[in-house]
Amino acid sequence: MKLNFWERFRRKSGSAPVLLEKSLTPELSREIRQSFNQASHDEEHFPSTIDPRIQHVQVLLKFFGDLTDKRVLDVGCGKGRFARVLAESNAGVFVTGLDISEAMLACVPAGVERVAALMTLLPFAASTFDCVYATESLEHAVEIDRAVAEMCRVLKPGGRLVIIDKNVEHWGRFQTPAWERWFRREELETLLARDCRTVRSEFISYWEDVAPDGLFISWFAEK
Ligand SMILES: C[S@@+](CC[C@H](N)C(=O)[O-])C[C@H]1O[C@@H](n2cnc3c(N)ncnc32)[C@H](O)[C@@H]1O
Repeated sequence: MKLNFWERFRRKSGSAPVLLEKSLTPELSREIRQSFNQASHDEEHFPSTIDPRIQHVQVLLKFFGDLTDKRVLDVGCGKGRFARVLAESNAGVFVTGLDISEAMLACVPAGVERVAALMTLLPFAASTFDCVYATESLEHAVEIDRAVAEMCRVLKPGGRLVIIDKNVEHWGRFQTPAWERWFRREELETLLARDCRTVRSEFISYWEDVAPDGLFISWFAEK
């Protein structure tokens, strides 16, 4: 049964709308892994590098600050284009890139630790990382609630978390696989606020001198 945007939410009495989630079954995980293993050959749409002036990189660098001797986790890192910039801009940082796709991970640069796993079951002890981020990967997690809870769990108290993803109000702008989901600002703010003491979000664009068009949202949280 296909549900429209509003039908995918239920409202508990007195609380914010909660998403009715699909399950990340073994079959669906396999399908997603295979799809991204295949997509790893498409360097145009899944590039290995990113211009560090792009705002998606700048918001991470600014919010995380000095990363000397810090542990950082890139959740759904793809080919590690963000992890590469973070590692290159900070001597003494230890960056881990985690992804479901081994083929994507094979492109992660040397110096970044690679971990093949699901973002809904992070293979790390609680409070392992000083900083955690997910750029355009939460949209593929299927079990969104669980993925956000996992990111918060592995974050140290006082640690910082950034999620950059797409605004559901722009849904339909691109072709998307059946499992993909975009978000409302308040939806992820509510999920993050369960474990984090400060949470905020803002619209971002690619370039500093171009006003955001509302497609990309960056969520910032401190545990
Ligand atoms: C659109 S790409 C973004 C990659 C990277 N964050 C970037 O911005 O370059 C989404 C990534 O999420 C990964 N992914 C999808 N579902 C995942 C899951 N359940 N657990 C971990 N990684 C997942 C995919 O393999 C893919 O590399």
